[in-house]
Amino acid sequence: MSFLELAQKRYSCRKFSDKAVEQDKIDKILEAGRVAPTAVNFQSQRIFVLKSKESLEKLKTVTQYHFDAPLAFLVCYDSNVSWKNPFNNIDEGVVDASIAATHMMLEIADLGLGSTWVGYFDLKVAQKTYNLENNIIPVAILPAGYPNMGASNMHNSRFELAKTVKYL
Ligand SMILES: Cc1cc2nc3c(=O)[nH]c(=O)nc-3n(C[C@H](O)[C@H](O)[C@H](O)COP(=O)(O)O)c2cc1C
Repeated sequence: MSFLELAQKRYSCRKFSDKAVEQDKIDKILEAGRVAPTAVNFQSQRIFVLKSKESLEKLKTVTQYHFDAPLAFLVCYDSNVSWKNPFNNIDEGVVDASIAATHMMLEIADLGLGSTWVGYFDLKVAQKTYNLENNIIPVAILPAGYPNMGASNMHNSRFELAKTVKYL
């Protein structure tokens, strides 16, 4: 499968089988996040694997979008480490974490697994629930597992290129 085919094939999976994800697959997903590009190569991404029953139960108090997945990744960045853009003072840690999460999501799809990027949660609640320090900033949750559904209508609904692209 070409990269473009993989990007087209990936969809948000919101229903999973109970089957556990094998550790070698988890390792590959984490490796995809590890090699992601980051600002100044500061590698501010911090990834928490939610695999134990206890961690997954806690996830239900963090977001309604847990989908009873057998596995989830909490993708964060460390604001003590991330690059601050001097032109606008923007903390680029959100970008670091987002690129890492995207790499992971695509690796998940390549492994025949499913996931959804979940942003609907209060980062303070996530920090408190998982005892994270204040400088560890959650950006995305990726519930993941063996898919029990196909792509939704949303996946097949994209604007024509002309709406989002302009040659200047
Ligand atoms: C930043 C971001 C936040 C999102 N948050 C949620 C969420 O909280 N819950 C959810 O079910 N899907 C969430 N999604 C998934 C989008 O709804 C989904 O990617 C979009 O509808 C396109 O569908 P597709 O991923 O199947 O192609 C989020 C996606 C992004 C990029």
